[in-house]
Amino acid sequence: MSRKPKKTFQTPKGTFDILPQEQKYWNKVRDVVRDIALHYGFGRIDTPIFENSDLYVTSVGEATDIIEKQMYVFKTKGKDSVALRPEGTASVVRAYIENGMANLPQPVKLYYIGPMFRYEKPQSGRFRQFHQIGFEIFGDMDPVYDAQIINVFVKTCYSLKLKNLNVEINSIGCKECRPSYRSQLLKYYRSRIKGACTNCKKRIKTNPLRLLDCKEEKCQPIKVNAPTLIDSLCKECHDHFKSVLEFLDELEIPYSLNPHLVRGLDYYTKTVFEVFLEDEHSEGGSEKAHRRSKLALGGGGRFDKLIKIVGGKDTPAVGAAIGMERVINLMKKQGVKVANPFKSQIFLVQVGDLGKKKSLKLFDDLSSAGLHVMESFGRNSLSSQLRIADKFGAKMSLIIGQKEAIDGDIILRDMETGAQETVPIEKIVKVIKNHLKK
Ligand code: HAM
Repeated sequence: MSRKPKKTFQTPKGTFDILPQEQKYWNKVRDVVRDIALHYGFGRIDTPIFENSDLYVTSVGEATDIIEKQMYVFKTKGKDSVALRPEGTASVVRAYIENGMANLPQPVKLYYIGPMFRYEKPQSGRFRQFHQIGFEIFGDMDPVYDAQIINVFVKTCYSLKLKNLNVEINSIGCKECRPSYRSQLLKYYRSRIKGACTNCKKRIKTNPLRLLDCKEEKCQPIKVNAPTLIDSLCKECHDHFKSVLEFLDELEIPYSLNPHLVRGLDYYTKTVFEVFLEDEHSEGGSEKAHRRSKLALGGGGRFDKLIKIVGGKDTPAVGAAIGMERVINLMKKQGVKVANPFKSQIFLVQVGDLGKKKSLKLFDDLSSAGLHVMESFGRNSLSSQLRIADKFGAKMSLIIGQKEAIDGDIILRDMETGAQETVPIEKIVKVIKNHLKK
């Protein structure tokens, strides 16, 4: 008895399939990242896709959008509360502590590539399952590593042939300078909060620094004149930030200071940054629409207190993550050409019982000789196989029938002209390679 499905199924909202024809972009990004990571001494780490949900609450911060609205949390059958990872840093911090990496020579440099999950309103560049490439450096507080993280980020983008990128950068201070700034900010906002949006009215109580991140039109005049953290940094944070900028100058990385950049995760100290397409402003549309639609290719910063908060020793750290979907989208928009690595030009046709019998072994021999071959072994007729070879755009077809199988030959057919020649099987690889060179 056959069971008919009641409805057709689709990808869950905010998710998508990566089809074979798209894979060349994903492979290209992974290859570039692997290469850069190797050169800069980053070791690959893979962590579970779900973790104890408290890990994220503790790391990312209770009063953030990620924890308040975007986490996929569920109870397991064993009654544990776990969450699909909304970002990678918390897991890597957990792994650094759990695996005793503090005992290794520092700094420890790690990178990861994989899917993340956030329950967002799906729109262009925002998905519920998306992919991040992350780089994290543990165990060194020197500003040279803030600059190296930014450099690795930018290098990845440039190696992918992306153009016109700009790093927006800020320092959000440390536990020495932030409290007094926080008081100044609260004082400034308290007398103006009536005119602000509902979100800001909430943020002033739960997470005042995030007031600076508001994108609402009515909050912009208030935000523009708000005191900036950069003017209140303690000497250590000031000097640290100055050094980071000097390193960026030395590396000739284009950047602009953005005193309102605070990032959406609570674990940052000192340097924070995001990378954008430089000329987005010139793409037309209103300022308001631009502010709302402006999407970072990625971002990061220092998180010197996080390792201790998660239960490890006091360990400085800095890192960043790049959004793969946004990078690939930009590659397409900017017309970056990515070669299809396995564009096959040869099609193997088999006819008759003996031809079919020999075809699988022949296919293996050809691929062992480095030739990428297409086939349609399920079909038996010569004409239907040749039609498929044509559709695939094959340059030549190899035909093995009853006679050829007995004689140890193979027919080589030029798909454009229809010309055919019979070649002894032991010579076929050489003959094909000569043809492909033409
Ligand atoms: P984040 O800014 O939340 O930082 O995410 C980094 C990047 O991931 C974003 O700039 C964006 O490109 C991409 N991304 C985030 N959410 C989505 C989404 N819903 N759809 C598509 N792409 C998205 C972090 O996650 C930090 N862990 C970065 C970090 C690493 N900081 C220190 N180390």
